[in-house]
Amino acid sequence: MALNIERDEHTGTDTTGHEWDGLKELNTPLPKWWLYTWLACILWALVYFVFFPSFPYGKGYIHGLLGASSRNDVMADVKGFAAERNAVMSKVAAASFDDIRKNPELLAAAQTAGRITFANNCQPCHGAGGAGNPGFPALAAGSWLWGGKLEDIQQTITHGIRSGDDAARDSQMPKFGTDGLLKPEEIQQVADYVSTAFFGLALKDAAPASIAAGKDIFAANCASCHGDNGEGNRDVGAPRLASKIHLYGGTRDLIVRQVTSPHMGVMPNWNGRLDTATIKSVAIYVHDLGGGE
Ligand code: HEC
Ligand code: HEC
Repeated sequence: MALNIERDEHTGTDTTGHEWDGLKELNTPLPKWWLYTWLACILWALVYFVFFPSFPYGKGYIHGLLGASSRNDVMADVKGFAAERNAVMSKVAAASFDDIRKNPELLAAAQTAGRITFANNCQPCHGAGGAGNPGFPALAAGSWLWGGKLEDIQQTITHGIRSGDDAARDSQMPKFGTDGLLKPEEIQQVADYVSTAFFGLALKDAAPASIAAGKDIFAANCASCHGDNGEGNRDVGAPRLASKIHLYGGTRDLIVRQVTSPHMGVMPNWNGRLDTATIKSVAIYVHDLGGGE
């Protein structure tokens, strides 16, 4: 059928010749700028398709000639950071504490590693910022059981305390009550003495005679570890008793309990879980908490 193309009198535009029940279709082509933009987009899509990842199929996808992948970029970045970190941390492992302190780059790396390691591994027992918990010593307080120099702290962390490690710090306070080394009455007396003389507690019903008897019991049984004046002894990890900072709490009941059957706290050894550089880093962190010597 021949198309009847004519000019529309209202718009001045040609019709296409299509007509439905008297309605005629105007021939209004796409604007050129629109058409070329559209074609350019198709062309770009094809180019992109060839060079970059595009269609998925099954479990994979078309990778494109450039093999671009933001996942690989991230992995490469991570590898780069890890290599940088390993380089710094092996220097930390090899350097002495003095040299680490003198080198701002090593010190910064060790402080960061130490802070993160402490939060992940030590905080559950020792509390945030090393504030301590009953039975878990306050590391920020400067009241050291075993020693507060960097080397002491490193040794404690590496081998632990009563941990079963061959080089662990180890000592046992005798079970004066359970093993019958002291009579219950004597335990009460020595607790009166320790409470008043060292812990600074004012006991309502402690008779001076009991305290005096306790003093003799202390000198005979306890001073060898805790010192004549309750000053403690780091060779055996015996806490300073003449102090406001207590491992287990500062009450008379707790003294009786400890003398009857001592807790003997266990600190895990970390040599199997953390490498040398990380242990040194966390030692620096602990030392810097406020109590380091
Ligand atoms: C399972 C609990 C536990 C965890 C985890 C733990 N510790 Fe301990 N830590 C202890 C106990 C208990 C003691 C005290 C043992 C004792 O009675 O002598 C201790 C003692 C110490 C001491 C000796 C303090 C002193 O006064 O001489 C240092 C230092 C220390 N811990 C550091 C750390 C660091 C660093 C970590 C993490 C890498 C850590 N601890 C993780 C339980 C723990
Ligand atoms: C062989 C050494 C040794 C002897 C002897 C000893 N102690 Fe201890 N004492 C320790 C050690 C080590 C600890 C900490 C260990 C633990 O239980 O975690 C301790 C802890 C304590 C504590 C807890 C301190 C705190 O800060 O909470 C008290 C109290 C105490 N001893 C009292 C005594 C009394 C009293 C005697 C004598 C009847 C005595 N000890 C004899 C080694 C000794």
